[in-house]
Amino acid sequence: MSNYKRIKGTKDIFGDEINYWYYVENSAKNTLEKYGFKEIRTPIIESEELFSRGVGQETDIVQKEMYTFEDKKGRLLTLRPEGTASVVRAYIENSLINLGSPQKFFYIGPMFRYEKPQSGRYREFYQIGAEIFGTDYPLADAELIHLLHEFFRSLKLTNFKIKINSIGTQKSREKYKKVLKEYYTPFLPNLCEDCQRRYNTNIMRLIDCKIDKEIASNAPSILDYLDNESKEHFEKLKKYLDILEVPYEIDPKIVRGLDYYSKTAFEVEHLDLGEQAVIAGGGRYDDLVEQLGGPKTPAVGFAMGIERIIEALKKEHIEVKKVSQIDVYIAYQGEQAELESIKLSKELRKNDIKTYLNLSKRNLGGQLKHADRLNAKLSIIMGDEEVVNDVVTVRNMETGEQTKVQRSWVIEVILEKLQEFY
Ligand code: HAM
Repeated sequence: MSNYKRIKGTKDIFGDEINYWYYVENSAKNTLEKYGFKEIRTPIIESEELFSRGVGQETDIVQKEMYTFEDKKGRLLTLRPEGTASVVRAYIENSLINLGSPQKFFYIGPMFRYEKPQSGRYREFYQIGAEIFGTDYPLADAELIHLLHEFFRSLKLTNFKIKINSIGTQKSREKYKKVLKEYYTPFLPNLCEDCQRRYNTNIMRLIDCKIDKEIASNAPSILDYLDNESKEHFEKLKKYLDILEVPYEIDPKIVRGLDYYSKTAFEVEHLDLGEQAVIAGGGRYDDLVEQLGGPKTPAVGFAMGIERIIEALKKEHIEVKKVSQIDVYIAYQGEQAELESIKLSKELRKNDIKTYLNLSKRNLGGQLKHADRLNAKLSIIMGDEEVVNDVVTVRNMETGEQTKVQRSWVIEVILEKLQEFY
């Protein structure tokens, strides 16, 4: 046993599990490209200040969850806890605004948050995110929500719900925050620890508290306090979603855990996931680009958690295609057979046939067992006898049926036999 263990809250991903990752990532890229998004890759480390300013000083992420450290020159760096602030930084730093507006970016990669690990909640987790810069048009919000719906349906998921809300512009929220504070004041001594703290620092988070649910359910609704601009934006969003036939619920309790949002906020919840049921979340952030030093640029986006989506696929018993199954395993014995096998492996791979050339000193029986364990479709067996007669033996690993094939016909025969597996 190794003395080294995975860091708490992280995962090794291998074997059959990889099939799920390919399924989700490839389908996501496919869908995102259909909507005109282009990939952007940004560093995993950024300056600490990007997130404390971008995500918000009073958020849980900045207060408790960031992996921050000093580098050798004493710079304060953070492993990114989310992707939006990084993409905004890249957008400003590379003057991407000059490429014209609006612009659509997507990203896939690991994020880091020092949270209490539990099912569906990790310290390193993967997000697929999408951001649109340079439009305040509610059609952009609707397009993103439509994309999420189409994506989850393309994965064959059915048991999920899209919830939308408007949390208004920063200005219109001030009035609501006052009303909310008044509502909560009499309950204050009996509220949970988090709510007591947030009462002073981030009052809106009280309404999505999982503990003081009852009190939150009677709290005044943000939707009654929206200014005209936010109200109109929300009405249009709903109209577009109706036209696009996206089913949604309005939930005034969606406030999101990051500070940069204004107007639209939304989440997708999977109904079989228990505590950590939110598989995607996002919203509009019209002030963030300016706040981080760029030109005033309205923006909207979302991110989804790959681990949670995979968990949802398993809960709904959705089978995913096995990727990279080996087509042909080459087993050989004897010096001459080895050299012939090496040549043959090169030919097979040139013909796009997924080939596994034996790399061990096992005997033929052991090699065939290995081929079985690797789930190879066919095996080629090459011994001295085959070399002498200029033939190879082709074995169907599913049925055990074996045939002798002229060396010069191997590629054709293999290609033909592989057809039977599709
Ligand atoms: P978020 O709601 O913090 O939003 O995260 C988005 C998604 O990441 C969540 O819905 C969840 O599926 C997944 N996630 C978050 N934390 C964890 C965790 N500890 N373990 C596993 N999965 C997790 C954002 O990050 C925003 N940047 C989204 C956004 C993009 N808003 C606008 N643009």
